Amino acid sequence: MKHFLNINEISIRDLKGILEQAKKMKGARIGLAKGTYDEGKPLSQHIVALVFEKPSTRTRTSFDVGVRQLGGQPMLLSGAEMHLGQGETISDTAQVLSRYVDLIMLRTYESKTLYEMAKYSTVPVINGLTNDSHPCQIMADIMTFEEKRGTIEGKKVVWFGDGNNVFNSFFQAAGKFNFSLIFSGPKELDPPSNLVKKANSLGFDFKIDRDPISAIKGADLIATDTWVSMHDSPEVKQVRHNQLKAFQVNEELMSNAKKDALFMHCLPAHRNEEATSAVMDGQNSVIFDEAENRLHVQKAIMRWCLSK
Ligand code: CP
Ligand code: NVA
Repeated sequence: MKHFLNINEISIRDLKGILEQAKKMKGARIGLAKGTYDEGKPLSQHIVALVFEKPSTRTRTSFDVGVRQLGGQPMLLSGAEMHLGQGETISDTAQVLSRYVDLIMLRTYESKTLYEMAKYSTVPVINGLTNDSHPCQIMADIMTFEEKRGTIEGKKVVWFGDGNNVFNSFFQAAGKFNFSLIFSGPKELDPPSNLVKKANSLGFDFKIDRDPISAIKGADLIATDTWVSMHDSPEVKQVRHNQLKAFQVNEELMSNAKKDALFMHCLPAHRNEEATSAVMDGQNSVIFDEAENRLHVQKAIMRWCLSK
């Protein structure tokens, strides 16, 4: 069974194959209305459950539209309206859903829930974000980078802010696609120490640089994310703002970057907090290309999951 749970668990050959497929499918849709089926309707007669335990704009709409374009049938389910984990075990839920649908996409809190769903499901499971990772996002980000600048291998990626779920998936991708990664944020929000130790064994270049100006020098890609994630308690807000304001991506910081460095943010953003509007809407920003590429790359991920 081909689950898409985390980037570090998938071979680089398959990851590159997914990106190639996504590029091909995107190219074939130029000029078509959004509801036009892709040639051959690759998901014809397939039902895909899209289960959300957290809010979502992009993941929800891009998976729904993607399933439709592939000729399949999306089924949107809100965790709050299911027995999921409260009143019914994840393992029972997984076995029941597998009797009705051909593929499950899950956005949840704990990774444990995702892995349990995958363990007991008899159909493939896709990670639509957990507290610890967001692999579909990073696949879209790599697709976006490579469309604009060619291979990401050997490039320098700098992450500003919280060492959160989106960062973790960048980290896993660095180990697979072999790009160098710099984390620039406060010590309190460092990525988990077990991850950092792993970087050496994975053989890619990973550094922590708490000086944003030196971190950004020579970067090919600059990325950040919200200072407070969906799984964080709202009380941390003020503390986070104090911890992170020095790592805001603004025009002054960007003036130290290479002229053609790309700026990414997975969105949703809190404008003028983690990044200023001038940067988000500036010439280096590719934030809406990233959002669009969620659609294309996830369609390729679904096809990969269902392929033999
Ligand atoms: N980037 C992302 O996953 O956005 P949503 O939370 O809107 O799905
Ligand atoms: N780090 C953010 C990403 C949202 C797509 C969160 O988990 O809320």
